Amino acid sequence: MRTVRTVSDLRQTLQAWRADGDSVALVPTMGALHDGHLALIRIAQSQARRTVVSLFVNPRQFGAGEDLARYPRDEARDATLMREAGANLLYAPEPEAMYPAGFATTVAMEGPAQGMEADTRPGFFAGVCTVVAKLLLQAGADCAVFGEKDYQQLIVVRRLVADLDIETRIVAAPTVRETDGLARSSRNAYLDPGERARAPRLHAVLQEAAAALAAGAPPASTLDDARRALGDHFDALHYLEWRDGETLERATLLDRPGRLLAAVQLGTTRLIDNVAVPSARKAA
Ligand code: PAF
Repeated sequence: MRTVRTVSDLRQTLQAWRADGDSVALVPTMGALHDGHLALIRIAQSQARRTVVSLFVNPRQFGAGEDLARYPRDEARDATLMREAGANLLYAPEPEAMYPAGFATTVAMEGPAQGMEADTRPGFFAGVCTVVAKLLLQAGADCAVFGEKDYQQLIVVRRLVADLDIETRIVAAPTVRETDGLARSSRNAYLDPGERARAPRLHAVLQEAAAALAAGAPPASTLDDARRALGDHFDALHYLEWRDGETLERATLLDRPGRLLAAVQLGTTRLIDNVAVPSARKAA
């Protein structure tokens, strides 16, 4: 597995692969790889002949007071894991290569990029949309793999490629969980043992609420109960929302596949998670 750090080296490598008739999958990451990322790489391999993993801790998606400075960085470890997982190329640009002096463009989105994560993290999706648009245009891959763990981000990226006519197919990868249900995340490394023991309750409450909704329980009281359970257990509840699984518009009925999405604060760590709420509509 080679490492390239410039757009021209990335494009040269991909052009050579294309000349050989090889398809290409991109896995965008910010490093600090865990089993969830390795699952993305495996899915990429099932979708294309060649896999590029990008590693870029994107400063533009971190707000003031967020964890940009302490975000775990260990490129050598990440490169070893990627290589072992079978990735063909690591694309690890420097911040100055991604955002050279004079860089003045931001990709702003409304619709699915509003509310939930955006309420607590203003500027987050502008940062994500800008860097993901750049990565997709730089690589020109056939497909790119994004995890369902960041469900709002996944829907935002789908909107982005549709709106900007980017010819890269977006592939969704199911969330990888610890045995106690906690979603794998690079930020789990911040949890102390006491916090780690409390963390799985997020997934448990979401699952209970999704099962109750699917069984026809009244939505308002079901969501209120779940919000109370999360608020009591964690240090703060940022949001818990029942949304349409494709558009992220507010859901009130079981007529389409839905999603329960939540974010909580646990000490200095923000945890997010989501689960499916199946539609009650029977297949024709
Ligand atoms: O999900 C992430 O790791 C990041 O938001 C992404 C998609 C790599 C963009 O920086």
